[in-house]
Amino acid sequence: MADNQPSESELSAELDALLARTRPERVVVVTGAGISAESGIPTFRGPEGYWTVGSREYHPEDMATEAAFSTMPREVWRWYLYRKGVCNAAAPNVAHEALARLEGALGERFTLVTQNVDGLHLRGGCSLARTIQVHGNTDFMRAVEGDDTPIPIPAGVPAIGRDEPLSDEAWELLVTADGRRTRPHILWFDECYNEKLYRSESALAAAEGCELLVVVGTSGAAAIPYHVAAVALKNDAAIIDINPGSNPFSAHAVDRAKSGKGLWLRGSGSRWVPELVDKLTG
Ligand code: OAD
Repeated sequence: MADNQPSESELSAELDALLARTRPERVVVVTGAGISAESGIPTFRGPEGYWTVGSREYHPEDMATEAAFSTMPREVWRWYLYRKGVCNAAAPNVAHEALARLEGALGERFTLVTQNVDGLHLRGGCSLARTIQVHGNTDFMRAVEGDDTPIPIPAGVPAIGRDEPLSDEAWELLVTADGRRTRPHILWFDECYNEKLYRSESALAAAEGCELLVVVGTSGAAAIPYHVAAVALKNDAAIIDINPGSNPFSAHAVDRAKSGKGLWLRGSGSRWVPELVDKLTG
């Protein structure tokens, strides 16, 4: 090829060779918005990304903060219910479904750490037990005060369009059974990861014990994939990055390719995740 990139058949052969060499028992997969892009959900930092386009009146990244919620809870809820509607209208794609097959084959030797809040891995067949949703899920809410166990957003709360207001009826439904106000079950920029709500320690523990880390569709802008990768690589795990664009994980993968333990599968999730899963389970 003109720019010296390996062809798809060369990458397939390199994938065969890496898996034959490393024979991974335990696999951790980290996913980001790129895996859901082909389901029609915007990424965060692409041209149509949420952080690029934003909400109607507010700077997008300011919306995803506890500080914004404390001063304008209805506007923040409105924006998340709009995003929930986008997620709910989308369907899992072949990459989500392939990861469910991998879970079926590996059971507890498989851990999925997703930054995505769209719920598509669960709808694609992965179990809640094996899926660590480190940034939350737009289908859930939790009380602002008292017991903050995440609970499903009531079915009666309607999906709303991008510029539609939040109705009083919907607002009244966004409370716990005992009437406490709720917030979206989402990790915001001015908040920290924790085990209780986001299972972040479990994600790191899984990384500690894996022989293969697969990273799909993330730019590496959030902290947790970075830490998961650091732990896995410290323990000499192999790394495969699936992404059409370069990112910190593709750099690790290219670097570790020199010792036979890294591969950047330059392309989309739908192109490479099913093939990888077929090869891991075949
Ligand atoms: P980004 O929007 O930052 O990055 C999306 C990545 O997906 C980029 O690296 C793209 O190259 C890649 N990509 C695009 N299409 C793809 C495809 N079809 N197949 C595979 N990869 C593709 O999204 P994230 O990395 O997920 O956090 O963003 C991380 C976090 O930043 C999000 O979870 C969110 C945001 O702030 C919170 O909201 C807490």
